[in-house]
Amino acid sequence: MSTHRIGILTGGGDAPGLNAVIRAVTKFGVGGHHWQLVGVEDAFNGLLDAPRRLVELSPQTCRGLLTRGGTVLGTTNRGDPFAWMGEDGVVRDRSAELAAAIADEGLEGLIVIGGDGTQRIGARLMREHGIPVVGVPKTIDNDLAATDFTFGFWSAVEVATEALDRLHTTAEAHDRVMLLEVMGRDAGWIALYAGVAGGADCIAIPEIPYDVDRYVRKINERAMRGRHFTLIVVAEGATPIGAHQAAADGVITNRVQGGSASAVLAALLGERIRGELRTTVLGHLQRGGGPVPFDRVLATRMGVKAAELVRDGRWGQMVCLQNNEMVSVPLDDAAGAPRRVGPMEPLLATARNVGIELGA
Ligand code: F6P
Repeated sequence: MSTHRIGILTGGGDAPGLNAVIRAVTKFGVGGHHWQLVGVEDAFNGLLDAPRRLVELSPQTCRGLLTRGGTVLGTTNRGDPFAWMGEDGVVRDRSAELAAAIADEGLEGLIVIGGDGTQRIGARLMREHGIPVVGVPKTIDNDLAATDFTFGFWSAVEVATEALDRLHTTAEAHDRVMLLEVMGRDAGWIALYAGVAGGADCIAIPEIPYDVDRYVRKINERAMRGRHFTLIVVAEGATPIGAHQAAADGVITNRVQGGSASAVLAALLGERIRGELRTTVLGHLQRGGGPVPFDRVLATRMGVKAAELVRDGRWGQMVCLQNNEMVSVPLDDAAGAPRRVGPMEPLLATARNVGIELGA
C-alpha cells in the first residue's frame, strides 16, 4: 500500500552519478517502502509543460542506472520557474503554476537533485509556496559549501588525470609546454586535484590570479635540469594578476576576448619562452560518461539519505557528506556561498611541497 507520492528531478548541468541517485531513491522508496515515485523531465519543466512530462519510476525502470552517465530524467539550466524564459524571450514567474501542478499531480513533495542554483530554487519553492523539498547536491566542480564532496567530482578528476597522463608522454617526446584546460569557472578543485594526481608542473586556478613570470621561471628551471617539457593545468576561470582591472580598462583577458583561459595563458607564455606550446581544452568530456566507484557509492548514499529524510518527514533539508558521515543541513544554508579553494587549503601546501608552481 502506497504511503507517499513524491516527485524527483535533476536540474542544472549534469554530473556522473545522477542516475545512481535516482536508482537509490527508487530502490528505497518504491522497492522498499511502496511509494509512488514520479520522475519530472528536464528539471521543473516537466511539470510546467502541457502536456506534463512525468514518468513513473520503479526498480524495473532503474535497471542499469548505477553505472550510466547523464540523467534519464533529462536536465536543463534554463528552467527556473521563478524566472522562466519563454520562446518569445520574455521572462515570467511561473512558480505558482508549478505549485498548482504539484498539487494537481498529488505530489507530497519533491526531491531536487542539483547544484546551488537548483537548491536555491528548491528553498524558494518551500519558503514562498510551501512545497516540501529535499535537496541532493550535485556538481562536478565540488564547490558546494555544505558537503565535503559532491558526486561527479572524482569522475571528472579521473578524466582530467588521464588526459594529463596522455599529454605527459607526448609533451616529453616533443619537448613541448602542454596546457590542459579543465572545468571550474569559479572554483579550482578539479585543476588542483588533477594537477597533483597527474604530476603537473604548474597549476592555475581562479582563486589564485597568476603571475605568468613564475610559470616562465618554472619552465626555464626545468629546461636547465634537462626537462624540456612542462605540463600546466589551467582551470577555465583562471586569470592573470590584474585581469579584472585590465578588463575594466579594456585590455584583453580571457573574459573580454571570449577566448579560453588556456589560450590567454598560452599567449602570455608565447611572448616569453622560445619552446613550442600546445593547448588542450577538455570541456564536456569531463562531465560525460559513467561515475567512478567513489561517485557511485556517494550517489547511492545520498539517494538513500534523501529517501530517509522524506520517510521521516524532514523536508527542507539537503543531504551532505561531512567527515564521511551522511548528514543533512537546512536547504537555505546549502544554497549559500560556494566553497572555493581557500588560502589555507592543505592540498595547496602539498602541491607547493612537491614543487608545483601555483602562479603566486
Ligand atoms: O557543472 C559546472 C560546470 O562544469 C562549470 O565548471 C562550467 O563552466 C559549466 O559547468 C559549463 O556547463 P554548460 O556548458 O553545460 O553550461
